[in-house]
Amino acid sequence: TARIVRSITELREHIRQYRLQAGPSAAVGLVPTMGFLHAGHASLIRRSAEENGLTVVSVFVNPLQFGPNEDFECYPRDEARDVAIASEAGANVLFMPEVTEMYPNPPKTSVIVSGITERLCGASRPGHFDGVGIVVSKLLNIVQPNRAYFGMKDAQQVAVITRMASDLSMPVDIVPCPIVRDSDGLALSSRNVYLSADERSQALILSQTLKLVPSWVEEGIAAAELTRRIRERIQSQPLSDIDYVEALEYPDLTPPAAGASLRTLLHQHPLLVAVAVRFGKTRLIDNILLTQK
Ligand code: PAJ
Repeated sequence: TARIVRSITELREHIRQYRLQAGPSAAVGLVPTMGFLHAGHASLIRRSAEENGLTVVSVFVNPLQFGPNEDFECYPRDEARDVAIASEAGANVLFMPEVTEMYPNPPKTSVIVSGITERLCGASRPGHFDGVGIVVSKLLNIVQPNRAYFGMKDAQQVAVITRMASDLSMPVDIVPCPIVRDSDGLALSSRNVYLSADERSQALILSQTLKLVPSWVEEGIAAAELTRRIRERIQSQPLSDIDYVEALEYPDLTPPAAGASLRTLLHQHPLLVAVAVRFGKTRLIDNILLTQK
């Protein structure tokens, strides 16, 4: 099973030893998580284990990326299970620091990626991506991995981290990984455990609707018509409460010209169609990335 490390000093020393022993071909992969691992996280870990000699999985519920009225306090946690799942998927080291280890002092430094964070979850969760930016920067600086793995479930997070790494010349490859879904289509999320049976079955409308997007875009419709159709379908589920439905150019997350055919736009830019919808107290996100070039 994977080795559990709780201090930054010990983690750095372990990685230094690995690099010494493995020599110039040594590659280190990092998979940042907030724990309560599921098959989505496991797919990232497996990919890292395939591509690197040492895979470090961080499990840290980062207080800085939660808003004052969000679920930091009750975010689901299960360390023993995380150790089992991560080890099984090929993790070598589990970095599980306390909040005081990561933040002995409240940081005075900000990592703000402009523009890309203005819409979607950046708009509905103010400060969220500043918290993600600082914690991912710290993890990248602590581990100094060759590659870091992120799921497209959080497509905006991938866009933000990729741009941050590029803007700051961080010597790391940011590797985007596909969304893992349950057999019924629901995108896996640690927060799915909050859903009641009714909420969970109504939440299937998200993946079912996003599946229709490619054929709708093929019709040559514009963003306003696309998002109208998506909203209409989602609203057919009485327990749904839409936070956002947007179609944006990827990875800059800017809106396409009003009235422009999305089919034509796809010749120039990938298109991200992303939704956030509350079912009861649980906010779910899902998306589809269309490319064509
Ligand atoms: P967390 O929500 O635990 O997710 C950790 C990683 O797993 C993220 O890159 C996320 O996109 C990926 N992931 C989650 N569900 C997935 C799914 N169904 N399919 C594929 N990948 C999935 O994202 C975070 O934590 C945090 O913001 C973090 C990056 C760790 C910074 O605190």
